Amino acid sequence: MASEPLGVVGAGWVGLVTAASFAELGHEVVVRDVDPERVAALGRGDVPIHEPGLAEAVARNRDRIRFTLDLDELLGSVTAAFVCVGTPSMYSGDADLSAVWQVIDELPEPGEPLLLIMKSTVPVGTGERVRARLDARGLAHVGYVSNPEFLAEGTALANFREPDRVVVGGFAQADADRVAGLYEPLDAPIVRTDVASAEMIKLASNAALMTRISFINEIANVCELVGADVEEVARGVGLDRRLGPHFLRAGIGYGGSCFPKDASALKQLAANSGYHFQLLTAVIEVNELQKRRVVQKLQNHLGSLRGKTVALLGLAFKPHTNDMREAPSLVLAPRLLAEGAEVRAWDPVALDEARGLLGGVTFAETVLEAVRDADAAVIVTEWPELADLATAEVREAMRTPLIVDGRNLLDPVVARAAGFTYMGIGRPEAFVSELPETEEPDTTLRS
Ligand code: UDX
Repeated sequence: MASEPLGVVGAGWVGLVTAASFAELGHEVVVRDVDPERVAALGRGDVPIHEPGLAEAVARNRDRIRFTLDLDELLGSVTAAFVCVGTPSMYSGDADLSAVWQVIDELPEPGEPLLLIMKSTVPVGTGERVRARLDARGLAHVGYVSNPEFLAEGTALANFREPDRVVVGGFAQADADRVAGLYEPLDAPIVRTDVASAEMIKLASNAALMTRISFINEIANVCELVGADVEEVARGVGLDRRLGPHFLRAGIGYGGSCFPKDASALKQLAANSGYHFQLLTAVIEVNELQKRRVVQKLQNHLGSLRGKTVALLGLAFKPHTNDMREAPSLVLAPRLLAEGAEVRAWDPVALDEARGLLGGVTFAETVLEAVRDADAAVIVTEWPELADLATAEVREAMRTPLIVDGRNLLDPVVARAAGFTYMGIGRPEAFVSELPETEEPDTTLRS
């Protein structure tokens, strides 16, 4: 395989995963970041991101990956560069593209031939605007291709190696061919399309996933009212091949670095174009309310939360990451404090990150320390360490043996048999299987 040297602009999570993954495929990679401390740390071999296998992949490919602060050094070594800079939400909810524009404005003129490959998540129309700015600056020789990423935290390297699809949207056929060629060794379906559609595929994919989550969360909320079990419902729904089983896990809502920001960006993109995206607005609102329902569940069982102690177990937005961005715990903890509860929090890897974000919360190094004399334990993140929470030791440590399982991690039958009051999301408070066996089936309701 002819492995051309590649550039990566931005040494964040997407940039480092992209760099390490292309190095694994045999490419020389030059990574540029504007943060001197980050570049120095990476140069020493310290990877400042918690992503399984990433540090190992960077170390394995040390000879092939170089880190620099200098864009000119990158441009002197490569003729194709992935743009992997951050596009956070602005106050308005629109995506902040300043880091993208900074890269475009830094390109020298006249320069060597260059192909920019956009991996950052950007609003639809960004490619057109970049193209126009490049042309206006006399940089018509700089090509542009949209190639969005679909990596999930915790499984990013595997997602890169085995993608469901690779999306390539180009203005020029030759540029798109070149990007598609980079992914050839992966043997994945390649969606060749125009730039605007490639940009929309990314936003629409995330919106569809979030819609499924808010949908199943609303089904869960109705299940609670009518006595159905959302876990059973999701299993039955997911077996329909037209629907599939993924992203049907009910819980306390989605968080993370992508979903909330991308939902907001798509909603504002639509609004800026004169369209009120009602469905997405509902998806976002359902998610906000879902986090707060835990407080109601606790109140239903404990009455006023004033003076009560609540243990929050798991703080990161999902397991296997220390990422606290838009984590439900960031809403739950202040809401509980506002109700007068004492909040104790535990997480196996995100405690340091959480300390600066959760004022007024006491942090515990172990689960047992968190639940001691607590009136309730809330599973906020489905860390595997919590799968056997319902033990005699935990029950005896708690003042009130109440578990609110925000991720439906535990088996309700096991938890109740261990002496806990158990509440999941969308699960009945008592199971049919627990009804007395002598009870005659009620046929009067059948039509
Ligand atoms: C997501 C997308 O999966 C990825 O394609 C995109 O590039 C970035 O956003 P990530 O944020 O890393 O990736 O995590 P993911 O595993 O998708 O979970 C996102 C959130 O949804 C988490 O808070 C998770 O707890 C929640 N979720 C997920 C549910 O509540 N229910 C589900 O069924 C699935």
